[in-house]
Amino acid sequence: MRQIKSVKCLNPGSAMNEPFKLAVFISGRGSNLQAILDQIDNSELDAQVACVISNRSEAGGLGIAQQHGIKAVHLSPKQFASEQDYEKALLAVLQEADTNLIVLAGYLKMLPQLVIHLYKNRIINIHPALLPSFGGKGMFGIHVHEAVLEYGCKVSGATVHLVDENYDTGVPILQECVPVKCSDTPESLAARVLEVEHRLLPAAIKLFVQDRIVIDNRRIVIKP
Ligand code: GAR
Repeated sequence: MRQIKSVKCLNPGSAMNEPFKLAVFISGRGSNLQAILDQIDNSELDAQVACVISNRSEAGGLGIAQQHGIKAVHLSPKQFASEQDYEKALLAVLQEADTNLIVLAGYLKMLPQLVIHLYKNRIINIHPALLPSFGGKGMFGIHVHEAVLEYGCKVSGATVHLVDENYDTGVPILQECVPVKCSDTPESLAARVLEVEHRLLPAAIKLFVQDRIVIDNRRIVIKP
């Protein structure tokens, strides 16, 4: 049976003229976070990064958040006695930030299943390849580009997708190709894909802010 769902009321804030609030998860340098902040600063994206959460205390992206006066939190299961305590702490941060959309911007961990359930259709991830190719557990960062080159692909790209219970299996929202050159190294390919990521992730966030996403089974329809 076809199930068409508008992901409406994702932005309860807008009704009250409140900013659309993002919780951005990172694990590393945070260049995608920076791209989101740049678009917000240039008034190209009408949203607010309400908090940045990292599983790694040394993630460069936490510094970017602090420079912007954004709440930056290091949260990892290792800091807690149980998974439940970790989930509770994570949910407290998300609720305090009044989160409308969770953005995984180079976050290399799986979110707790409870968070995925509670924020269903309100979590997006950027992946540096054309899913469903070169996705799944262990496929992150430079490993993705190594695998693309090893396979001999002529194109790669970036995908922004909804997050479900598994690694990289949620419905794609936006995808864009980049050519693979004969002379490419994993690093040069990563740099070309990253340029696309920096446009694609803010563009996908904008679709949520503008309430333009409709889910038609495994297809995202973008309202004009
Ligand atoms: C990005 O290329 C992102 O697509 C990738 O990690 C990098 C983070 O860079 N994510 C994954 O591989 C997830 N499977 P950044 O910290 O500079 O944004």
